[in-house]
Amino acid sequence: MKKLAIFGAIAAFSLCAGMIPALAQQAARVSPHDQYMQRCSSCHDTASSEDRTPPKAQLALSGPDNIVESLTRGVMKPMAEGMSEAEIVAMAVYITGKQPLPKVALGPDPNLCPTQDPIVASKTDWNGWGMDAQNTRYQPNPGLAAADVPKLKVKWAFAYPGKKNGQATIIGNRIFISSNAGKVYSLNAQTGCVYWRHDAVGAVRTSPVVARNSKSPSKWAVYWADDRMNLNAADAMTGKIFWTTSVEKHPRGVMTGTPTLHDGVLYVPTSSMEETVTNETAYVCCTFRGSITAIDARTGKVKWKTYAIEEAPKVHRTAGNKNLLGPAGAAIWASPTIDTKLKRLYFATGDGYTDVKTDATDAIIALDLRTGKKVWSYQATENDAFLVGCTGRAGQPANCPLTVGPDHDFGQSAILRTLPGGKRILVIGQKSGTAYGLDPDQNGKVLWQNKLGTGGPLGGIQWGSAADATKMYVANADTIAVGGPAKPGLWALDLATGKIVWEKLGIRVTCSSPGRCTPSHSAAVTAIPGAVFSGTLDAHLRAYDANTGAVLWDFDAGKPVDTVNGQKGAIGGAIDATGPTVANGIVYQHAGYSGYGGGANGNNVLFAFSVDGK
Ligand code: HEC
Repeated sequence: MKKLAIFGAIAAFSLCAGMIPALAQQAARVSPHDQYMQRCSSCHDTASSEDRTPPKAQLALSGPDNIVESLTRGVMKPMAEGMSEAEIVAMAVYITGKQPLPKVALGPDPNLCPTQDPIVASKTDWNGWGMDAQNTRYQPNPGLAAADVPKLKVKWAFAYPGKKNGQATIIGNRIFISSNAGKVYSLNAQTGCVYWRHDAVGAVRTSPVVARNSKSPSKWAVYWADDRMNLNAADAMTGKIFWTTSVEKHPRGVMTGTPTLHDGVLYVPTSSMEETVTNETAYVCCTFRGSITAIDARTGKVKWKTYAIEEAPKVHRTAGNKNLLGPAGAAIWASPTIDTKLKRLYFATGDGYTDVKTDATDAIIALDLRTGKKVWSYQATENDAFLVGCTGRAGQPANCPLTVGPDHDFGQSAILRTLPGGKRILVIGQKSGTAYGLDPDQNGKVLWQNKLGTGGPLGGIQWGSAADATKMYVANADTIAVGGPAKPGLWALDLATGKIVWEKLGIRVTCSSPGRCTPSHSAAVTAIPGAVFSGTLDAHLRAYDANTGAVLWDFDAGKPVDTVNGQKGAIGGAIDATGPTVANGIVYQHAGYSGYGGGANGNNVLFAFSVDGK
């Protein structure tokens, strides 16, 4: 056994020998500084203002726990291959100058609920990502009038580990939350007490989804996808796992978009971090293709699976003695959208990773809901081949595409809406800063497009828009604007024409939380009758008047707060990716996003807001 373990370690070293030749020859002791120079510096010390790689100083601000987490189970795990736990901790200390919290398993939660209340669904629930399977992110029954929004105050706050977490799903008196530190919780929606916590095997970034399930005594199951690319089903009452289905086995695949539930089937999207293999000479680049898998919610059985890029990757070019494979890419970062009338499913894709042309990247694609067969697709940006740090110039790493595109993924779901008068429309925004209106009844014919922001590798229009019956609400981040001025802000567009009804440019503030202090509207937007919520990287969550864009309410999630589970002075931080979910008069939003600040020791806080905090 021992011998095998040693061989394993050698294999791990030789795997990355190309990337870090010095390491392979060296004895175990490498100083954190040398490790950093060999493994990290090429990206983190050369990050330009037009790159999404956080510079070293930014990493330092994100806190030691975040670095340990990122290297042991997060997106930077491949960069730490062969590093021991102690070396990873030393690296975190070297970068931040701070000691990470001891990596012990979480103990029992201090605020367990006194009783196991039954799960009773209500008309005002918010289940999963988009509020409904059409991904409108519009809550028609929030239990909260727009006139009362200015009176919103913290009802309770709950601190939990992890960042880049899922949104809260609300079913009656329970909410379900997930975390990329591998925790899934069921909390009481009114008090934040803990019904149960599940310690998952991998990071969970997708939002929990709840469905009826005959296996559970309460007749409810909760589902989440983890970064091991599994879909898990558990008893919603207890958190006990019913089944786990492996959705995909790609080494760089991750689960980001929340599965969409419709008619007893979960439609599960896949995404990937293959975009960061730029300097890994031993990595076979590139092979990931985004896919949708339809899985029976009761049994976990796969009904069908469709790759966005239908053609399997094959060798298309050699660089030196290295074979390069393609096509690859078209990751699906957001929840699919269901069209019950035409029995279709719509999803949007990210960029490509190779020079091989494909019409499936940066595209909106329609599938037959029953078979998964492609019906139509609309490609917004052609030939957008992108790996982080590639320049397209001579001397770039072998994995790089020869022609490098703008990194204009679709990071959000398409929204399906019926206009007054009966005509239907599919709307979506892209990282290019452009919003689109397509005709689902004419195979995706473009009805309008409107460029609102400058766009760039972190968006542009990023994680989610919302739409009521007449308007689309679009947040634009422009965290890094390429080729023009940054125009972060929030827009209301006429749903039928795409014309601007109002616009509200990002409000600059002095941040009470460290990190990128920018009014970047990257997080998903949420709408209720008369009001629109939009969060920013500088830790503000605001509500706007849906008709005029006037700010109704402004909350700073970067200020210390005492939590119901016993943390004094916890700090939430940056709001990104997820938007608020609203039900039964309460607005839930988690704050804290890695890479962009949010509290020295990696606090991550879920806020529940209600009128006067009652
Ligand atoms: C090939 C380029 C590359 C190398 C090498 C690299 N990084 Fe990164 N790193 C990135 C990029 C790109 C991101 C941003 C990822 C994103 O956009 O989600 C990032 C993000 C991070 C983050 C933010 C955490 C997160 O979860 O978003 C940390 C911490 C980090 N890197 C640490 C390191 C350390 C420590 C090393 C060396 C052991 C390293 N990185 C090596 C490219 C690199």
